[in-house]
Amino acid sequence: LIVPVILSGGSGTRLWPMSRPEMPKQLLALTSDETMLQLTAQRTNTDGFATPIVVAGQRHADLVESQLTQAGTPPQALILEPVARNTAPAIALAALVAQPEDVLLVMPSDHVIENLDAFHSAIRAALPMVSQGWLATFGISADTPETGYGWIQVGREIAKGVHQVARFVEKPQLERAEVMLARGDYAWNGGIFLFRADRYLEELGRHAPEMLAAAKEAVRTAKHDGKRICPDEAAFAACPSDSIDYAVMERADRVAVVPVAMGWNDVGSWDALHAISELDGFGNAHRGEVLAIDTTNCLIRTDGVRVAAVGVQDLIVVASGEDILILPRGRSQDVKKLIEAMKR
Ligand code: GDD
Ligand code: MG
Repeated sequence: LIVPVILSGGSGTRLWPMSRPEMPKQLLALTSDETMLQLTAQRTNTDGFATPIVVAGQRHADLVESQLTQAGTPPQALILEPVARNTAPAIALAALVAQPEDVLLVMPSDHVIENLDAFHSAIRAALPMVSQGWLATFGISADTPETGYGWIQVGREIAKGVHQVARFVEKPQLERAEVMLARGDYAWNGGIFLFRADRYLEELGRHAPEMLAAAKEAVRTAKHDGKRICPDEAAFAACPSDSIDYAVMERADRVAVVPVAMGWNDVGSWDALHAISELDGFGNAHRGEVLAIDTTNCLIRTDGVRVAAVGVQDLIVVASGEDILILPRGRSQDVKKLIEAMKR
């Protein structure tokens, strides 16, 4: 059985004001009535998969557990990080809790995948190489020069539908992204990985030994409370912080990519959410108590106060708690700037 590992520790600041440190993106119902975390867990709630290992921040323990239980996908283990150290250590904790020979399917909890059959076939295609020790990623067809993604140069085919990764470039500068897009032999890294637990730990030990050592110590001294595993705070705080992409994937041996068209979207901004939402006849994606007359191509969402609009177009309006966000469509990447300004 493949063991799903769900990463639920991000903060998703670009979806402010709904996404906040105490209620991050993955715990919100953005694209349907279910939360991103619930949708993620349900993707592997089928034959061939074990129940998931979930890695989340300690402060979200109750929310994560209740959402998963409600979705009918209770975890086999809930690893609770006392501090965030990014994805490479989070995955190390899961790999150490799993059995060495387990095949792990590492999934972010904040993506949309529309075509589940395509996702499952891509996993099946990768499995033989993964059993032999390859680390597999899933390649999404690139159509814009994204600087927020990892890029994968697709090399020779090593098994049906599976290619060797010629190069892995995490979060390139714009100029480099434009070159890779124009070449046509690069795909985006979907952020989903399939590998044996022991192979991940082996590569981590080779490229980030201090990270592996700290993760081992944190697991060795962890407190167990039913399914909950709480790594020791001092031990885990000593772990360097880095993503799997920089710490492992850019440097590892035997990395494979399975190009897959599965309706993938990382819902990284309000514009992205508008783009994947079901729209009314006027191009609007409204949610919550919204009264809109003569509005077109807008996204208006509220989780409390009523929002009323007349005669506007191409606007994003998001009301949550005490906060209201207003911006024209196309500018939602700039929410980052607002967050920084609010910190000052
Ligand atoms: N448990 C845990 N702990 N989870 C974490 C942590 C952490 O410290 N940090 C991030 N995560 C979770 C996030 O919630 C998300 O589900 C996933 O790990 C990926 O983290 P992001 O921070 O969203 O990564 P990214 O978007 O910058 O980049 C990754 O995803 C891209 C695709 O969306 C990379 O893998 C890129 O190469 C990739 O293209
Ligand atoms: Mg992300």
